[in-house]
Amino acid sequence: MSGPCGWRQDRDAPHPDPADSLLVEDDLELRVPNERDADELFLNVDTNRDYLRKWLPWVDDVTSVEDEAAAIRRIAETRENGEDCFYLIFLEGNIVGTLSLNSIDWDNRGFVVGYWISEESMGKGIVTKSCARLFDHCFDDLCLHRGALEVAVENYASIAIAERLGMRLEGITKEREWLYDHYVDASLYAITAPEWRERSQD
Ligand SMILES: CC(C)(COP(=O)(O)OP(=O)(O)OC[C@H]1O[C@@H](n2cnc3c(N)ncnc32)[C@H](O)[C@@H]1OP(=O)(O)O)[C@@H](O)C(=O)NCCC(=O)NCCS
Repeated sequence: MSGPCGWRQDRDAPHPDPADSLLVEDDLELRVPNERDADELFLNVDTNRDYLRKWLPWVDDVTSVEDEAAAIRRIAETRENGEDCFYLIFLEGNIVGTLSLNSIDWDNRGFVVGYWISEESMGKGIVTKSCARLFDHCFDDLCLHRGALEVAVENYASIAIAERLGMRLEGITKEREWLYDHYVDASLYAITAPEWRERSQD
């Protein structure tokens, strides 16, 4: 087989690299960050602090543009190592959230997704559509096999995304994440490449 999926057949061949940018639809794009994005990304986090803090554990660690710039540098390193690929979500050229491809397991062809969107951009399907574009890329271009999402059991908006994407609930992990002052249980959702393709044909 030619193209990136040739990699699926030859386990010793180098794996393909995630794209620098992915067009979701007109005016909606995913793009890897560079340090020039630090100001705008920080502003997004800072204005959404209370809302994001409810479900994301890192919000208090980001207190300045320099923290954001340092995070972007770390992101570039893990991307270079093939471990993760972090995208900014751009709506009409403005950053409205992030979508990350985490813990890429090239041996077993697995990945985990994580995301957030600004409160004012919620309710428009931006994250669902962005995840669907990323899944197409992961399964078709990167030849990965299994995508997973771990979500706090009471994060109903995020659970709705997993279900809209056709992901399967595989179980509940007890006290999976420490959120500032308490543990939360998490639901593990997943979908495999054949399941994604079957769903895409519906
Ligand atoms: C979780 C989170 C990303 C959900 O955001 P969201 O805006 O509800 O998700 P989407 O962008 O997919 O939008 C879905 C909404 O758009 C609507 N929608 C409109 N057009 C749509 C389309 N074409 N496709 C899908 N949904 C569409 C859906 O009906 C849904 O609306 P509803 O909430 O009234 O049912 C957001 O609440 C968030 O960032 N929270 C804080 C951080 C967080 O929890 N991250 C996840 C950790 S696991």
